[in-house]
Amino acid sequence: MEKRVSALVLIPLLAVMVRMDPSSATSESKANFEDQFNIMWSEDHFKTSEDGQVWYLSLDKETGCGFQTKQRYRFGWFSMKLKLVGGDSAGVVTAYYMCSENGAGPERDEVDIEFLGNRSGQPYLIQTNVYKNGTGNREMRHMLWFDPTKDFHTYSILWNNQQLVFFVDKVPIRVCKNNGKPNNFFPNEKPMYLFSSIWNADDWATRGGLEKTDWKKAPFVSSYKDFSFDGCQWVDPYPKCVSTTTDNWWDQYDAWHLSDSQKKDYAWVQRNLVIYDYCKDTERFPTLPEECSLSPWD
Ligand SMILES: *[C@@H]1O[C@H](CO)[C@@H](O)[C@H](O)[C@H]1NC(C)=O
Ligand SMILES: *[C@@H]1O[C@H](CO)[C@@H](O)[C@H](O)[C@H]1NC(C)=O
Repeated sequence: MEKRVSALVLIPLLAVMVRMDPSSATSESKANFEDQFNIMWSEDHFKTSEDGQVWYLSLDKETGCGFQTKQRYRFGWFSMKLKLVGGDSAGVVTAYYMCSENGAGPERDEVDIEFLGNRSGQPYLIQTNVYKNGTGNREMRHMLWFDPTKDFHTYSILWNNQQLVFFVDKVPIRVCKNNGKPNNFFPNEKPMYLFSSIWNADDWATRGGLEKTDWKKAPFVSSYKDFSFDGCQWVDPYPKCVSTTTDNWWDQYDAWHLSDSQKKDYAWVQRNLVIYDYCKDTERFPTLPEECSLSPWD
């Protein structure tokens, strides 16, 4: 029995290791932007590099900008490299998220990564949130261990029916577990598009809205490149990969739990970088939400 288990474990582990090495991510997109994405709003605030591989979104007093995938996905690995607005970016939010709808519908599922800008030289925060059927309120905020405005870093989401993990480079910063039952907290039914956008939120984003955007510094530009996904692409009424999900590495044993080295990294993040965790906020939630009792270590 023991032998059998270890063999079963090893094969997907290799697959995961190969997959998470970006140099071997076969699905990494060198395709044209237009093949994969649509611009959601303000085409004139969108630019690409000459070779088309880097995408720039800009925000000025008039408007921000956003793009989304043409396809929807249900489960998989989704990754993008971002370099955020440098200098004084108070009130500017750069977002990278997945959502089951094009708008903020009352029954949407959503998985958010938002970068909250700051005054010059002060640290950016990364805020994450998870919505199921229109309800979020599951914020976490982390500091980063590098300046995200200096270089491109990779931000990824691993999503399967057991867990949802947010990665910064290769470090898991947040783990959301499913409980294997129908519930109101784990998005696992609706396929989602992937979105990127920049907008102004100086009513809340920086020091709770105290720091306003300095429009003299506009335009604010965030850069994106190397979108890659390895997941189940949706087709109506449903794709084959939905009923055979465990055939795929992202929905196998090794993708259902953090590995030992990921657990070490995750523990380091928990100790050093968490600024806010809704699961610890007993003032806001006298009875903590059900999912807060699920252990990320399992
Ligand atoms: C989703 O939310 C709507 C209200 O916005 C509610 O009517 C519906 O029952 C919910 N669905 C589930 C599966 O909980
Ligand atoms: C901005 O910098 C200040 C001062 O270092 C810090 O308190 C705050 O958390 C930072 N981030 C945001 C988004 O307010």
